[in-house]
Amino acid sequence: MEITQLGMEHEKALLNFLADFTNAGEMDIPGYFADSDWSHAEIVENLARMSRGEGLPDGWVPGTTSFLVHEGEILGVSNLRHRLTCHLLRFGGHVGFSVKPSARCRGHATRLLEGAKALACVKGIDRLLVTCNAENVASVRVIEKCGGVLEDEMYLEDVGEVIRRYWIAL
Ligand SMILES: CC(C)(COP(=O)(O)OP(=O)(O)OC[C@H]1O[C@@H](n2cnc3c(N)ncnc32)[C@H](O)[C@@H]1OP(=O)(O)O)[C@@H](O)C(=O)NCCC(=O)NCCS
Repeated sequence: MEITQLGMEHEKALLNFLADFTNAGEMDIPGYFADSDWSHAEIVENLARMSRGEGLPDGWVPGTTSFLVHEGEILGVSNLRHRLTCHLLRFGGHVGFSVKPSARCRGHATRLLEGAKALACVKGIDRLLVTCNAENVASVRVIEKCGGVLEDEMYLEDVGEVIRRYWIAL
């Protein structure tokens, strides 16, 4: 099992990964930012560019997307924002992550968040903000397993959810 950036060799694996969410009726994949009409080569290039901070949409900061891959199969994805904005400080934080529905409850999200922590250390970040819906029991558990300390919990009207914010010291 490895945590890696997306490469040209992952085309079939990425299609299978995305289909797993669609088949489960999940359209939103936290941590994965790619337009559905991009070719695989464009996805690879754009994710690499986002990581380098090139050509970012307004208000975006550089962010590195990483994939958890096992025997050629993509199991999960994470996105580490290299710094916070006012918006991310309130909601979104440094890290978003998702595990495909058919591979959940096997520790994969925990591996991804630990991987994001390691990458954040390399980037010189000294603490990570991770936010989640207070009712997302699995996400809360993952964040707390990875050392998350609850900062606060509040209803955000624009998001329409009760959001928890956790800090993870690195
Ligand atoms: C949240 C998510 C990433 C968790 O992925 P995962 O690979 O299943 O996570 P892990 O296996 O590492 O850990 C899940 C933990 O939650 C627990 N858990 C999962 N569902 C649970 C439930 N309904 N009630 C109680 N605990 C639950 C598991 O038992 C496990 O804890 P344990 O290790 O103590 O047994 C996954 O459900 C997902 O992709 N959800 C959609 C996207 C999302 O919500 N991302 C998070 C945004 S902040």
